[in-house]
Amino acid sequence: MSDRNLTSSAVSRQPGTAALPARLPRPAPNGLPNSPGSKGSDPAIPDPLNYCSDVIYQICTDRFAGGRFPLGASPAGTKLYCGGDWPGLVGKLEDGYFSRLGVTALWISQPVDNIDAVVDYEGVKHTSYHGYWARDFKRTNARFGSFDDFRRLVAAAHDRGIKIVIDFAPNHTSPAMETDPSFAENGRLYDDGRLLGGYTGDAEGLFHHNGGTDFLTTENDIYRNLYDMADLNHLHPVIDRYFKEAIRLWLDLGIDGIRVDAVKHMPAGWQKNWLASIYGCRPVFVFGEWFLGSPDADPEHAKFANKSGMSLLDFRLSQQVRRVFRDRTATMYDLDETILATVSDYERANSLVTFLDSHDMARFKADHVPDRSVELALVFLLTSRGVPAVYYGTEQYMSGEKDPHNRETMRSFSETTVAFRAIRTLAALRRRNPALAYGTTSRLSIGRDAYVFERRFGSSVAVVAINRDLERSFPVRGIVSSLPTGLYPDALEGLLGGRPTMSADGRLPDFELGPGAAAVWHDARVAPPEEAEPLVGHVGPPMGRAGGELAIGGSGFGPRPGAVLFGGAELPDDHVLSWSDSAIRARVPGVPGGRYEAGVRTAAGRESRSPAGGGFFEVLSGEQMAVRFVVRRAWTEWGENVFVAGDVSELGGWNPERAIGPFANQVLFAYPDWYCDVSVPAGAEIRFKFLKRNGSSVRWESGPDRRFRTPRSGTATVTCDWR
Ligand code: NOJ
Ligand code: NOJ
Ligand code: CA
Repeated sequence: MSDRNLTSSAVSRQPGTAALPARLPRPAPNGLPNSPGSKGSDPAIPDPLNYCSDVIYQICTDRFAGGRFPLGASPAGTKLYCGGDWPGLVGKLEDGYFSRLGVTALWISQPVDNIDAVVDYEGVKHTSYHGYWARDFKRTNARFGSFDDFRRLVAAAHDRGIKIVIDFAPNHTSPAMETDPSFAENGRLYDDGRLLGGYTGDAEGLFHHNGGTDFLTTENDIYRNLYDMADLNHLHPVIDRYFKEAIRLWLDLGIDGIRVDAVKHMPAGWQKNWLASIYGCRPVFVFGEWFLGSPDADPEHAKFANKSGMSLLDFRLSQQVRRVFRDRTATMYDLDETILATVSDYERANSLVTFLDSHDMARFKADHVPDRSVELALVFLLTSRGVPAVYYGTEQYMSGEKDPHNRETMRSFSETTVAFRAIRTLAALRRRNPALAYGTTSRLSIGRDAYVFERRFGSSVAVVAINRDLERSFPVRGIVSSLPTGLYPDALEGLLGGRPTMSADGRLPDFELGPGAAAVWHDARVAPPEEAEPLVGHVGPPMGRAGGELAIGGSGFGPRPGAVLFGGAELPDDHVLSWSDSAIRARVPGVPGGRYEAGVRTAAGRESRSPAGGGFFEVLSGEQMAVRFVVRRAWTEWGENVFVAGDVSELGGWNPERAIGPFANQVLFAYPDWYCDVSVPAGAEIRFKFLKRNGSSVRWESGPDRRFRTPRSGTATVTCDWR
């Protein structure tokens, strides 16, 4: 390594190794809006950054409730609009259905204007009732309501402490055909009513024209169409700016979260730059959809969750839960293993969004699935790690295989089903007991069909016992738990046949867990401030710029403000915006880009730990922009891939292990030419080089460092010849 490598490596920080002054400097003013920063501390106003103690309820807007007229049963298999809308949701908020169910966030269909065309596929009429066929991301889908209706929805939700999460699908517009402009609406995209372009005759290159993906490579998935949907070219400056403006409009309407559709199908570097603009505007919780069909490990999935700056839907755990509780093709041992494996593969496992089913899979309930299995799976979902999302109708045991049968109109609003009561009880428990929100998981007892596990966060503990065998009871013998000596009632109050009380004294007495039974015994006693240990359970958003805001969630921070630690150094007092025993808001300090551990020192001088991880924050080196790096004539040996590294943290700070890549070489450019879209600081002089990497063996380019001055805004392409 050259001398300069040593100096420039100081720019990037590894966890815990940051050599920072004890008191951090103030960041340079960067034009970020000043916000009051009181959100985290007032329980009545939902915190849009931390969802760990929430339960999300996923709604297909068209299929849930009608405001203009009531929804009847949807005709079987219809892909036509059924009439659900935002006034309908307001009605349900007002009548208290969601509050009584205990859910604290509603994830609704993409709200933006969608095409009117009815598309005939194999004789079946298809419409945009699902919201994924956008036309104008700056207008509302009039079938769901107007902007005023949307504002009323947000207000009605916030009045009840409920968050609004919108689905958002910037990957594509709508179905289009390269050869037929009259097909559907030709994928046309509008900017608040002004036509930007359509799919055919796209001289400007707003869209990709590389055919459909075969789902075989990440590159195909990104730069070819998802099915027949007109795939947007995010590196086009018009598209890049459009999506920054469009999401800002929805943020300004007060949304609390974003579920990003099809993140596997958009350049990760573009998404990071887009997220940075979201977090710089008004940070909210963002989670992406990267579909996985099985619980098997997918390193790309984990890499995206750890590095993209957003969380993900937890397909891995969810597919395993389905195997275990629904289809019985896997055992409790597999479930336990998936929990263990995901906690080690995902840095923020407690922020992954878990679920039993969704609009993209057969509903959990089916003829071969007894109600009790749904209930047991719900108990697992709501007590295990991750932010649970309940798909609408699960509490009413709705069934239905592939879409649209899994998206039928809401069948009833009964509040007496066992599933409804289990959700209500456990959602309340998630809010009360930080062990469920932030805790680690350990197995206490296990068999093929039964699982007893403990969630623990400092002195908060929950023990969960589930027996999926509906015929035989399971003997629980000799287990040791962290529940302090005492007598614990089953939080489910025997709803699922659990033993009514459990005595604990370090050990739990031997007991029989009845057939199909589940129980939860827990302790959320709060230690007196002088004894409380500060524990960090969540830091969010995962990244941002100096001057932006971050939320720290956990317990034991104490009633009086202490200090917020960032990479081990204390933030100046005026960077601490609000402080309560469980939630802190702080301003990101003006430190060099890189990863920092965020922590807390209490007024009594105790420093926090982060028992389940997730305490990291990535400081960006500046405002971000997407740059396409192209390197031509880079011949490689078998197994080698091309990467780029450079002097900013976004380029890995010259560390080849953190270099950005692998580059692609098939669709937009073909081998021996390679390309990759990367988020880098805007308006900055960056130095970089390409390298060829195969595992740990690295071949750098020769010659001096390359330099590039990135523009202040827009997007850019840098084209080089390998040397
Ligand atoms: C980055 C350096 O600045 C560059 O000059 C060198 O070739 C590579 N690292 C490999 O050490
Ligand atoms: C995933 C969505 O969840 C699915 O319903 C949709 O059809 C595709 N992405 C395309 O938007
Ligand atoms: Ca794409």
